[in-house]
Amino acid sequence: MKIFIDSANLKDIEEALKRGFASGITTNPSILAKEKKCDFKEHIHKIISLVREFGLRDIPLSVEVFSTEPDEMVRQAEQFVKEFRYEGLNIKIPIGWDELSVIKRLKDKGIKVNCTCCMSYNQAIMAADAGSDFVSLFSGRIRDIGYNSTAVISAVKRTLADWECPSKIIVGSIRHIADINEALQAGADIVTVPPKFFTQMCSHPKTTEVVNQFITDFREWLE
Ligand code: E4P
Repeated sequence: MKIFIDSANLKDIEEALKRGFASGITTNPSILAKEKKCDFKEHIHKIISLVREFGLRDIPLSVEVFSTEPDEMVRQAEQFVKEFRYEGLNIKIPIGWDELSVIKRLKDKGIKVNCTCCMSYNQAIMAADAGSDFVSLFSGRIRDIGYNSTAVISAVKRTLADWECPSKIIVGSIRHIADINEALQAGADIVTVPPKFFTQMCSHPKTTEVVNQFITDFREWLE
């Protein structure tokens, strides 16, 4: 299982990378738009520089196209590959009938693809069967309209295993720590997590209580 950073914030990415658990980064146009307005390419280059500073030569970094026109999507993808020259780059292409042809064209060019915005079992298996390296299921948005994202994740996992399909399941759209736990236990290969959850994932009131107790007891004993 792997934890990815679902952010384009340089400070958040640095804080996660320095703790050794993060093994990938996902962005999307809305995530990038949360950052101070800047040159998009320059910002992605800064993320890549950070990754390399930590000696993580080619961890997966997802960058999404910002067009819905197939030829333009391919053009943007090729431009990103040429611009960033980063081994771990994978291009995010939203799932859709026309987008499957974009995925095939990119894979034929040797470009890695993260097929994103998957909200159902059928979307995810179509994306995987089209050759996507990653298929991204949006847990929070699946739940928004009353569907059981855990059931979708485990069903996709079973089918891809039956097919011996190499596509990796990324679960995003995380709204609560429980979403992370349930996604991983349902079989997600990767959960991409907004940094605000990282500290919460490591803390527990009973941990704080017992650590304070140990320190107090030992200091009293030393006196
Ligand atoms: C993965 O990177 C997805 O783009 C992201 O988790 C979507 O989150 P949202 O559904 O909260 O926009």
